[in-house]
Amino acid sequence: MPSLNKFLCAPLLAAMAGAVLAAPSNGVQNRVDYTSDVVYQIVTDRFLDGNPANNPGAGHSASDCTKTELYCGGDWQGIINKIEDGYLGGMGVSVILISPPVQNSDVLFSGLYSSYHGYWPVDLKRSNPAFGTMDDFKRLVKVAHAHGIKVMIDFITNQTSPALEEDPGFGDNGKLYDDGKLLSAFSDDEEGKYHHYGETDFSSIEDELHKSLYNLADLDQQHPQIDRYLKEAVKFWLDAGIDGLRVDTVKHVSTGWQRSWMDAIYAHRPVFTAGEWYVSRDDVWGPSFDFANQSGMSVLDFPFAQTTREVFRYRSKDMPALDQMIERTGAAYAHPLDQLTFIDNHDQNRVTLSDSAAHHRQTEQAMAFSMTSRGTPVIYYGTEQYLLGPGHAPINRALMPSFDTSTPLYGMIRRLAALKKSNPALQFGDQQRRWLNADVYIYERSFHGNRVLVAINKSISVTADVKDLRSGLPCAKGGPLSYADVLEQQFGGAAIEARCDGTVAPFQLAPGAIAVWAAREDDTASQTPALGHAGPMLGRAGVEVVLSGQHFGTSRGSVLFGQAAADILEWEDSMIKVRVPAIAAGRYDLTVRRKERGSAASEAYKNFEVLGGPQQSLRIIVDQALAAPDEQVYLLGDVHELGGNQPAHALGPMFDKVVYRRPTWYLDVSVPVNSALSYRFMKKKTAGGEAVMESGPPHTVTTSAAGSGVVRVKLNGWNAAEQKP
Ligand code: NOJ
Ligand code: CA
Repeated sequence: MPSLNKFLCAPLLAAMAGAVLAAPSNGVQNRVDYTSDVVYQIVTDRFLDGNPANNPGAGHSASDCTKTELYCGGDWQGIINKIEDGYLGGMGVSVILISPPVQNSDVLFSGLYSSYHGYWPVDLKRSNPAFGTMDDFKRLVKVAHAHGIKVMIDFITNQTSPALEEDPGFGDNGKLYDDGKLLSAFSDDEEGKYHHYGETDFSSIEDELHKSLYNLADLDQQHPQIDRYLKEAVKFWLDAGIDGLRVDTVKHVSTGWQRSWMDAIYAHRPVFTAGEWYVSRDDVWGPSFDFANQSGMSVLDFPFAQTTREVFRYRSKDMPALDQMIERTGAAYAHPLDQLTFIDNHDQNRVTLSDSAAHHRQTEQAMAFSMTSRGTPVIYYGTEQYLLGPGHAPINRALMPSFDTSTPLYGMIRRLAALKKSNPALQFGDQQRRWLNADVYIYERSFHGNRVLVAINKSISVTADVKDLRSGLPCAKGGPLSYADVLEQQFGGAAIEARCDGTVAPFQLAPGAIAVWAAREDDTASQTPALGHAGPMLGRAGVEVVLSGQHFGTSRGSVLFGQAAADILEWEDSMIKVRVPAIAAGRYDLTVRRKERGSAASEAYKNFEVLGGPQQSLRIIVDQALAAPDEQVYLLGDVHELGGNQPAHALGPMFDKVVYRRPTWYLDVSVPVNSALSYRFMKKKTAGGEAVMESGPPHTVTTSAAGSGVVRVKLNGWNAAEQKP
């Protein structure tokens, strides 16, 4: 074998996978960086019944799980059992994402539908007794942490349980309790703690925000008590030790309010947070990117999932669609590494179509793609067992059929999870197309000297002759270097040879093949700090931010937000913890300077958003803002959160159809508390073009010390002369 000086090749890497790696920068103690993680999504009720004593009573549960709208008995004890017996850790799972853990309605709706899924909450500060007590939950967190596994919960801010405007006796009347004390009910809601605008037809974001989703009692987060309750409730679960949040139906809650909620979370105990902005196969992607870039949380990457499913499951698109999706999402997300990728979940039919070998291979290819692409993969429970679920809920939420650790997919996930843990290219690397035709996609992830090259041939019959493949995989001193397939040729791959002219020796890729080759940079050789990730990427002064990467050195250097140095709390060679400095609100690049070796600086990690202080959600309403049917009204103000008076950063379009109607417009925005703000309105044609500004002096408001707020003003009129602000 040729000598290796600077790089470690795949066989060595495979050997390292079982070894303990030095100073993991993003292990269980790092709750904001999921770049080295693999998430496993569990519908708690459908995983394993570890404690039959907590199963709901007669009529509400079916222990054989034949009545799939009832509880089937799964609970946190079942998950604990599968952590303790090594099933989850053995697969390389390092995060579990579990169903909403909160107390749910115990009504059997229409005598048939139970809340086994967890999306019908009645008390967000209590646990669902069918899953366990709060002590059981804390034990789950403790056991998970002891096994190097983070716990992410699904959390709901949008709704309570199904309710009917005309029938207060229906179900639980959408009641919400605050640790046992009644806070609100859907009918008899004089204070307006819920929205009462009927059911959404999904025709616009405004419609989805203010109307109910499938008659689920729709909370008004802007109501001061609901606002306070939702912020307290999430802190209750943060204090129970969780490491991450999936936020349900973020499309149905205002982005302004959610920014204020994220600020409260990051100031209390920063954890990785991803919202479910559902995007169907024919939807446009733009609003989900906007949400990911503006809300302070990541998203479940539906553009990734839908395209991957179209290519591998539905076979309605070819490999160039994957490449185009990677290119487009890579440019559209401000932080592509922070999005959660997936191939199926509890709201979609499962990816495996049948028990045939060909259909298994399709699932394996989709899984390999999500495990090696940018972002953090979420594996839906049972996919590793090729569980079938050819329809929507509850068909796709069957009881876990077996815990077989010998399936090919279980083995693949284990190998790729180990590679993701150990090779920074899979954590922080960009993703570049290397070779592409309708059936074959070869791409490379790279981060400084670390490389992972992946090849997938989706054809079931055609062998690909791969010639002129370029790669950053290094050669040996003066000659080619052979790389073994990380998947140990289990999926049709073989070794390849990287040549010193930057090409790979021609090879054949078998029909259905999946192959992965990797090289890891030798940690001791580099002089320059390599900053791979920082999180969270939004916060007020004082919030803790963790930076991960390589070669930061062992003595404390400095971390700059723009030009401002941050207070350093911890410094290791691959992880630094700092506090956001007290600087003006705005967007900043982060850089790391090491102390040794000539104060070398890292490349900038872009777009940290410093907030102007603790946030509140403020509803701004403007009356008499007349606009033509093809014009929309926007809002801008003198603080960063309101666009810093720059028309290009104005917020909106404001809404004009549901709560108020033209010529009254409204928008919920996140702004600093205790602040004197000035703001004005502008209008623009929907098709674009120049803005027309409001005339006269700006409006002013001083925000309150806490809670949500509302302000209503009358437009001064439009300044027709001021066409170019
Ligand atoms: C999205 C969840 O994933 C889905 O399962 C649920 O029914 C709705 N949100 C409502 O909570
Ligand atoms: Ca049980």
